[in-house]
Amino acid sequence: MQNRIMITGAGSGLGREIALRWAREGWRLALADVNEAGLRETLALVRAAGGEGFVQRCDVRDYSQLTALAQACEEKFGGIDVLVNNAGVASGGFFAELSLEDWDWQIAVNLMGVVKGCKAFLPQLERSKGRIINVASMAALMQGPGMSNYNVAKAGVLALSESLLVELRQLEVAVHCVCPSFFQTNLLESFRGPNPAMKAQVGKLLEGSPISAADIADYIHQQVVAGEFLILPHEAGRQAWQLKRQAPERLYDEMADMAVKMRAKAQPR
Ligand SMILES: NC(=O)c1ccc[n+]([C@@H]2O[C@H](COP(=O)([O-])OP(=O)(O)OC[C@H]3O[C@@H](n4cnc5c(N)ncnc54)[C@H](O)[C@@H]3O)[C@@H](O)[C@H]2O)c1
Repeated sequence: MQNRIMITGAGSGLGREIALRWAREGWRLALADVNEAGLRETLALVRAAGGEGFVQRCDVRDYSQLTALAQACEEKFGGIDVLVNNAGVASGGFFAELSLEDWDWQIAVNLMGVVKGCKAFLPQLERSKGRIINVASMAALMQGPGMSNYNVAKAGVLALSESLLVELRQLEVAVHCVCPSFFQTNLLESFRGPNPAMKAQVGKLLEGSPISAADIADYIHQQVVAGEFLILPHEAGRQAWQLKRQAPERLYDEMADMAVKMRAKAQPR
């Protein structure tokens, strides 16, 4: 029976909701984050929802912390069946303004954090014939303006997921990649970028989502059970992805118009 899951970024937002969704199925959960207070709150909610598990502080930028977490999963659960690489941070800013440090930080958390998570837990997943769920973003598919470093990190997560999908099929390890559009969480708290006006714009986009983090966790659960690789929880995201495949130039025109509007709004007053 498969019932052991590890989730990074489980102290808030989507990671917490994924934990609760799986807890309701009676799973045992390893919950990791740099936010220890958030982790404790998630564990209390998980227990109330019927799950059990443990929390461990883990910065996904540090491979030794991920291998220590894998070791803890081994000792407490005898391994895991599902790995959810969800931890992530927000960034924004036009390419000309983003520093190389902004790039390094974004790639270290949002891309290399996922690479390191997969590497640390692969031996356990090979043994359990388990599955990997990587949380990317619609930014992996659409590359909107004013967030090139985020777009590249998330496109990297999708490319990694596709690479693992084909490499690991023979080993019976399944792979899923989740690409949500904006939705309301605490993601803005981690925002880093050269232009404060851009942060406010991202905040508005998060607020505008028609669906919640809990809805997205539900959708992920349903699509994982159905065996879907690419999981697009927003209806508008599914439509935009179809448009990009049919007529990419139309989408680039829309994005270029959006860039003009964003640049006008981001001017210092
Ligand atoms: N909210 C959105 O609009 C949106 C859209 C698409 C994709 N996503 C992705 O969803 C995932 C979850 O984000 P969220 O929206 O729930 O945000 P959130 O800020 O509420 O949760 C992210 C969690 O990741 C943790 N985290 C950050 N850096 C970390 C690190 N180095 N090591 C370990 N944990 C770390 C944070 O402490 C936080 O608890 C992220 O990968 C994000 O990029 C979010």
